Amino acid sequence: MSYSLPRRILLGVTGGIAAYKSAALVRELVRAGADVRVVMTPAAHDFITPLTLATLSRHEVLTDLVDRSHTGTWNDHVALARWADVFLFAPATAHTLAKMAHGLGDNLLLACWLSATCPVFVAPAMDLEMYRDPAVQANLAALKARNVHVIGPDTGELASGLIGEGRMSAPEDIVAALCDALIGRSALAGRRILVTAGPTQEAIDPVRYIGNRSSGKMGLAIAQAAIELGAKVTLVAGPVLGTVALPLAERVDVMSAAEMAKACKDRFADQDVVIMAAAVADFRPADPADRKIKKSSAARVLTLEPTEDILAWMGAGRRKEQFIVGFALETGSGLAHAREKLMIKRTDMLVLNTLADDGAGFGHDTNKVTFLFADNTEEALPLMSKTDVARRLMERIADRIAT
Ligand code: CTP
Repeated sequence: MSYSLPRRILLGVTGGIAAYKSAALVRELVRAGADVRVVMTPAAHDFITPLTLATLSRHEVLTDLVDRSHTGTWNDHVALARWADVFLFAPATAHTLAKMAHGLGDNLLLACWLSATCPVFVAPAMDLEMYRDPAVQANLAALKARNVHVIGPDTGELASGLIGEGRMSAPEDIVAALCDALIGRSALAGRRILVTAGPTQEAIDPVRYIGNRSSGKMGLAIAQAAIELGAKVTLVAGPVLGTVALPLAERVDVMSAAEMAKACKDRFADQDVVIMAAAVADFRPADPADRKIKKSSAARVLTLEPTEDILAWMGAGRRKEQFIVGFALETGSGLAHAREKLMIKRTDMLVLNTLADDGAGFGHDTNKVTFLFADNTEEALPLMSKTDVARRLMERIADRIAT
């Protein structure tokens, strides 16, 4: 079973024999699309080397609050905790669970825990009598009461040779539990989604261009909402300000409509869903100058030629099971025009934006859109944040591809 977990995960490894499984766990998490950073307790070093976990996570592994090799430098537990979308302790020993329950911060990992605001998961690992100990159970209960999710432990053969409850859950079961808790069973989990965002710039000469007022906010919000549901998102972005907070499968930055077309066409065949939120230029200067055009008082005529319509190209070459979403921007109501566009470009859905409403369209953090579907149904949404529009859009796409 392959899971998709595009999240930034801070993995705390504590000093128990199950730490040997942390290597496999890091691998599973990375394979599921997570960006993993590891913080170890000093005791964990007795069980697994930082080098192993650094190699697998592709990040430096940290243990100390203060970096002894460089006077005056320290590892910023607040920044680490804020970086994480998810904090996972695996294995979580009885000792670390006790310190977590009682608010101790005597190492970097615990300082991160005290600073964390993201969802926290613990995968306890210890021998069966330790696990049954009332103090351990009370600590786990206290953590659960503070919304810490407990994964496992499993029952089986323990390092002591005894058989019973206390074994750390298998790495793939931990990843599955994280996916279930964070993503649920969305039809978009693991799907490949291409999202375009922002304007394009069409060169007139090396310093001037024809562009448009798109900020890219809507496309970035869509990419973020798709990742939240476990999708593997490729973002093809024109010149936009801003980023997507969760890990993208890929980001391709482009300038012109031609570059956007190439980036999209190269990737189209692999995609389950495409959402063309970009405001792609319809025309470009036919003959851009190699050198800066000098000022002259004479009037100038700029000859424009049409750009390739990427969405139409996709619609013409699509597989039936691909789900394609276009955007249409109208200055009036434009419903009929949008419906026509949906049919001509062979999309499954079209998001109609209108500049006629206050707070909607370019540059705003809010938008007012109508969803049009190929089965002739429509859904008009009220003015809402672009984040909410994006989430609603992803819900509708998930509904449609699930059926
Ligand atoms: N689009 C595209 N390639 C282009 C132009 C537009 O893929 N060269 C996509 C946009 O990303 C958007 C949809 O097509 O999803 C919008 O289509 P378009 O016909 O350009 O819409 P409008 O600009 O709204 O149309 P018109 O200019 O005809 O009103």
